[in-house]
Amino acid sequence: MTEQQHPTAGGCPFGAGAAGPGGTEAVPLYGAGLSGDPARLYREMRARHGAVAPILLDGDIPGWFVMGYRELHQVTSNPELFARDSRRWHAWERIPEGWPLLPFVGYQPSVMFAEGPEHRRRAGAISDALTAIDQFELRQICERLADGLIDAFAGSGEADLMARYAARLPLLVIAELFGFPHTEVPELAADIAASLNEDEGAIAAHQRVAERMARLVKAKRERPGADVPSRLLAHPAGLAEEEVVIDLLVVMAAAQQPTANWIGNTLRLMLTDDRFALSLTGGRRSVGQALNEVLWHDTPTQNFIGRWAVRDTQLGGRRIRTGDLLILGLAAANSDPQVRPDFTDAGSDGNQAHMSFSHGEHACPYPAPEIAEVIAKAAVEVLLDRLPDVMLAVPDAELAWHPSLWMRGLVSLPVEFTPTYTPIPAVGAGGGLSG
Ligand code: HEM
Repeated sequence: MTEQQHPTAGGCPFGAGAAGPGGTEAVPLYGAGLSGDPARLYREMRARHGAVAPILLDGDIPGWFVMGYRELHQVTSNPELFARDSRRWHAWERIPEGWPLLPFVGYQPSVMFAEGPEHRRRAGAISDALTAIDQFELRQICERLADGLIDAFAGSGEADLMARYAARLPLLVIAELFGFPHTEVPELAADIAASLNEDEGAIAAHQRVAERMARLVKAKRERPGADVPSRLLAHPAGLAEEEVVIDLLVVMAAAQQPTANWIGNTLRLMLTDDRFALSLTGGRRSVGQALNEVLWHDTPTQNFIGRWAVRDTQLGGRRIRTGDLLILGLAAANSDPQVRPDFTDAGSDGNQAHMSFSHGEHACPYPAPEIAEVIAKAAVEVLLDRLPDVMLAVPDAELAWHPSLWMRGLVSLPVEFTPTYTPIPAVGAGGGLSG
């Protein structure tokens, strides 16, 4: 396949009314109803359609929604049959300019869309560069940066923990692991936030982030340091500078939002569920349990787009055609009654066989899940240490979720606590980002 940005091979083989993707049976997966109770939506879809459902994305673009745990395992374990390069899609000619999901599926020459040996080369280098991070030092970095963020609002007795804390900490940590100059971090954070907005400023903001990353990689080429970009540049995989830039952008994006929402969803669970509230003051042990429960019940990565069928095949009793799009229903698979009949208890027993980090060759690469856990655990523990009487400032039912099919995260998490006026000095706490 040639390296084009928006491939347009072939057309959809399914006519209207077919019981394949796009047929009369297909469920629209867009619009209202996504934000409130996705678990219920998955339950209803599973009851009506089984493990693999035909769905329609924005603009009535067809695809398959893989909800069965076993089927998801099958898809993610067989990259030679369900591949990652989006140029395999037969629906490109139906995709309009500015399609909202284009940022997720538009081909880019990054690790995300690479396949086979090229993917192993790129993903292997990323894993090696991340493995070199000392987890003890990482914990110290997280604690220092978390303290810095809390210092900025500890005296006020109230805060939105999403905006002031959960959404900020992972990026500060990544910026430090990447060796970004402290002076650049506030603007980098602002641009990343702007790039996630759905307005016309988003593209320009994304462009500025990419330019910043390119400058960082150039600087690391000249003066290597003990950081992720320098390790990637020096890796025996012999990555070109452009490859390092684009893969670092993937790592930063892949790390930031899911980890932020993992922190936010865990704090919400601990602040609203009596099992955790009762032990807030005494029991640190419950933080690990809460983090794991969130990955089973309220995972940040609900669904992932996607995989493309390499040839005609069968999945969950459905006929899948070459070039069909499959969406990984990670959250739905976690609650599959076939494998988890005891779902209400899922996570509390320490079982980590959830699909939240996906599975197989393209799964969240080792040791990224461990890094995410160090960041998230430190975030929750430091907050509870610093603000031991923290409580929700609004009823749980008033907390709003972002209306996204892909990411489960809170719009805000307003809390109250006794103000503390003796902040730990914010030495090096993220270049003044904590304001
Ligand atoms: C709660 C935190 C996180 C969750 C739930 C999560 C989940 C995921 C998922 C579902 C994928 C897609 C897998 C697929 O295509 O099958 C992914 C990919 C990826 N994640 Fe994570 N992730 C998290 C944190 C991180 C962190 C902290 C990093 C880096 C430090 C990271 C780096 C990556 C990369 C580079 C990929 C692309 C892998 C590839 O295509 O080969 N993630 N992650």
